[in-house]
Amino acid sequence: MYKISLLDISDLEEAYRIEVSTNPSPWSFDNFKSSFEVGHHGLVCKEEGRILGFLIFSPIRPEAHLLNIAVKESEQSKGMGSLLVKSMFSQCKAMGVKKIFLEVRISNEKAIKFYQKYGFQKDAIREKYYSGDNPEDALLMSIEF
Ligand SMILES: CC(C)(COP(=O)(O)OP(=O)(O)OC[C@H]1O[C@@H](n2cnc3c(N)ncnc32)[C@H](O)[C@@H]1OP(=O)(O)O)[C@@H](O)C(=O)NCCC(=O)NCCS
Repeated sequence: MYKISLLDISDLEEAYRIEVSTNPSPWSFDNFKSSFEVGHHGLVCKEEGRILGFLIFSPIRPEAHLLNIAVKESEQSKGMGSLLVKSMFSQCKAMGVKKIFLEVRISNEKAIKFYQKYGFQKDAIREKYYSGDNPEDALLMSIEF
């Protein structure tokens, strides 16, 4: 059974491994460490103690920025991303957040469908948002409560 809990510093290695295997321009391990150190909020989804997915967001009330979400490839489309997003919604509402925004690669149809299912609207395109080895435009999306 899946269990959602707060991301702990001891979870960073496992979260990083999922990130590297699912993201064409992954966060570095240092990105994970500094995100934790600056106080971003993190959630993990575990099964029998193993991390299968994570979500990281930054609340800057009354808004929040969804910074990263990933589910281990073999475990995708089984409802784990949904559990993570719903937990973020609960936390954000309890904190008085009124709007959540995010960026997603324009070609990432699966993630865009996923966000739309949870009420995120397409707002704008940010050209050349992603650089490096896999340059691409970003779609900006948001949801208001
Ligand atoms: C995007 C992601 C987090 C979704 O998590 P997930 O656990 O796979 O999603 P869920 O199983 O909770 O699916 C919820 C909804 O997402 C959409 N979805 C899921 N898998 C899909 C697929 N293969 N194709 C199209 N839509 C899909 C559907 O709307 C689905 O609802 P449904 O089951 O009623 O059809 C996950 O696929 C992932 O980690 N992708 C790689 C990393 C990534 O792209 N992160 C986003 C960066 S912005």
